[in-house]
Amino acid sequence: MRVLLTGGAGYIGSHTAVELINAGHTPIIADNYSNSCPEAVERIGRITGCNVETHTIDMCDAEAVDKLFAEGHFDACIHFAGLKAVGESVSIPIQYYRNNIDSTLVLLDAMQRHGVCNLIFSSSATVYGTPDKLPLTEDSPTGGCTNPYGWTKYMIEQIIRDAAVANPELSAVLLRYFNPVGAHASGLIGEDPSGIPNNLMPFISQVAVGRRHHLSIFGNDYNTPDGTGVRDYIHVVDLAKGHVAALPYCDSHKGCIAVNLGTGTGYSVKQMAEAFAEINGVPVPYEYAPRRPGDIDACYADPTRARELLGWEAQLGLSEMCRDTWNWQKNNPQGYKGAD
Ligand code: WQD
Repeated sequence: MRVLLTGGAGYIGSHTAVELINAGHTPIIADNYSNSCPEAVERIGRITGCNVETHTIDMCDAEAVDKLFAEGHFDACIHFAGLKAVGESVSIPIQYYRNNIDSTLVLLDAMQRHGVCNLIFSSSATVYGTPDKLPLTEDSPTGGCTNPYGWTKYMIEQIIRDAAVANPELSAVLLRYFNPVGAHASGLIGEDPSGIPNNLMPFISQVAVGRRHHLSIFGNDYNTPDGTGVRDYIHVVDLAKGHVAALPYCDSHKGCIAVNLGTGTGYSVKQMAEAFAEINGVPVPYEYAPRRPGDIDACYADPTRARELLGWEAQLGLSEMCRDTWNWQKNNPQGYKGAD
């Protein structure tokens, strides 16, 4: 299948492009590189031996997107493009709503006009807000999001659900990611946040490589075994394979369905920091700090539906997550920007 990856040069998109090629598909990347690097696409080529067709395009530019679809002959779209920093979304909410929702409306419009009926959407466990019961199933209550970023994912899920009701030909799978971490085993592609990392794993790896002095653990008084926050970390390669597994389902069904992509296992912040240090033999000094506003005690998935519907379940565990993160970081201390 010819699969359009909007935001395909990003962290999840680039790993998904590799797994699509491995599965015999043809990914086409559309990206404006506002939060990614063309170098990532070069590296996809080095990993797979395939030159991926790319288009530098803003997904909010309706004219450019329509032209892309007129020439693209896509069989499916995977919609990664979007602003995704939780903290930043609180300070610039209008840009988040404008960018994330407009780009989706433009995409849905172009898909309808050009007869493309298969959509996989990069959603997030953030749509569950503060869980009242764990593990989270796809039928757990959604809404009550704690930041504008989460609300954009929640609203976009609703937009796609309504579009699927109006257009019986549309098939949509809403993949709710838990916490993506890790990198391709080659160490050629990985997570490359700009500025100070918001997320835990890139911060840990930047401490380990000497870019940060120590990790601040935000809160050790949560209702968890060691008092630090618990999350369902999932290896990005497993996550990428979840998208490949969703394609045949999407192509053989109509309507809209949400699917959790998580491991079903939660680890605490302290466990992650100590595991990373032990598995890689590198110090990860940490200090306890006050809670971060908006954080929740614990969050982890019930991954049953993905196994039963998509025939997918996570294969990689904590040691691979830590080992592959470190392999990427130590070979790319400045991320892609350090590439010669
Ligand atoms: C994990 C844990 C922090 C940094 C967010 C988004 C979610 C998804 C993943 C996109 C928490 C603690 C973190 C640090 C810390 N992104 N932490 N010190 O907040 O669970 O989820 O990223 O889809 O949508 O909401 O991930 O990695 O920021 O935090 O103690 O320097 O690590 O308090 O307990 P989070 P995270």
